[in-house]
Amino acid sequence: MDQVAIVGAGLIGSSWALVFARAGRAVRLYDPDPAALPVALSRVDGALEMLEAHGLLGEQPASIRSRIVVTADLREAVRDALYVQENAPERTAIKAELFARLDTLADPRAILASSTSTIPVSQFTQDLPGRGRCIVAHPSTPPHVLRLVEVCPAPWTHEDTVTRTLEMQEAVGQVPTLIRKEVQGFVLNRLQVALACEAFRLWEDGIASADHIEKTVSETLGMRWSLMGPFETLSLNAPDGLADYFARFGEIMHRINTSQVARPIAPEAVAQLEAELFGDAPPDFAAKRSRRDERLLGLVAAKTARAGDGEA
Ligand SMILES: NC(=O)c1ccc[n+]([C@@H]2O[C@H](COP(=O)([O-])OP(=O)(O)OC[C@H]3O[C@@H](n4cnc5c(N)ncnc54)[C@H](O)[C@@H]3O)[C@@H](O)[C@H]2O)c1
Repeated sequence: MDQVAIVGAGLIGSSWALVFARAGRAVRLYDPDPAALPVALSRVDGALEMLEAHGLLGEQPASIRSRIVVTADLREAVRDALYVQENAPERTAIKAELFARLDTLADPRAILASSTSTIPVSQFTQDLPGRGRCIVAHPSTPPHVLRLVEVCPAPWTHEDTVTRTLEMQEAVGQVPTLIRKEVQGFVLNRLQVALACEAFRLWEDGIASADHIEKTVSETLGMRWSLMGPFETLSLNAPDGLADYFARFGEIMHRINTSQVARPIAPEAVAQLEAELFGDAPPDFAAKRSRRDERLLGLVAAKTARAGDGEA
């Protein structure tokens, strides 16, 4: 059974542990904070229960769970592992320090993959002797439900590292996509940031309420985007496809786009937005996250069921 190390046991690390264990890998799940480990395992248990309830596990949850061992010792975590998935906080300095330790401790053949959402791997591996085995494998949230993984090498990442990372992700049931050139935020977060920042400006400028903006995405844009991406969506919004769409709307799109000017987001404004969304008492975010994952599973099941019918 191949050994995998998951480094950082927060939201993403615990979900990765489940992805690899579900695919039959022996997982060591590491966090420097020992208190994070039982929390991570209870997240795994909750997720296993949910997957089991939807009939999405090929074996008993207990046997999957038995393949996950937790540790607060990094050397122990990476012992014998040929694949390491890092999930520490999104800070370049933390990743740099951690990758330097991983490069020393891990088997020289091991791939060191980062879950970073936004930081090109070249920004924290430049001086490492083993930089050729470092790569980004950025998951969607949560990876045990949404399978797309953005794989992004640095200019010095070995071709063999890229190939083995893509193969590993496919082998554990994920859907890897290869980013051709390093860019901050990769593809997923660049698209997400563009929408989120515009949503924030529309709300802050008093053009629409938070609820209105939420509904615009969940009832319309998001419904279509769960079937196809932005290009296909636009190609169906004009009688004769994409060129027709741009002939009709290209100029106005450009005018709107130039009026969408970046500006800082003040913490006071975020607090106000949160109050509008949730009132005085913050909701139970863990429970809301769990409910979201449950509904996402329903969507994934519906999409999978229609996958063979020739539609998007
Ligand atoms: N949350 C998301 O939606 C999401 C999605 C995709 C990728 N990511 C990326 O995954 C990574 C982890 O994000 P998260 O949401 O799981 O954060 P999190 O805060 O839930 O978990 C981070 C964990 O890292 C641990 N940690 C702190 N210092 C560490 C160190 N030096 N070495 C190892 N572990 C350390 C913390 O104790 C904590 O348990 C980030 O790079 C983030 O950008 C997050």
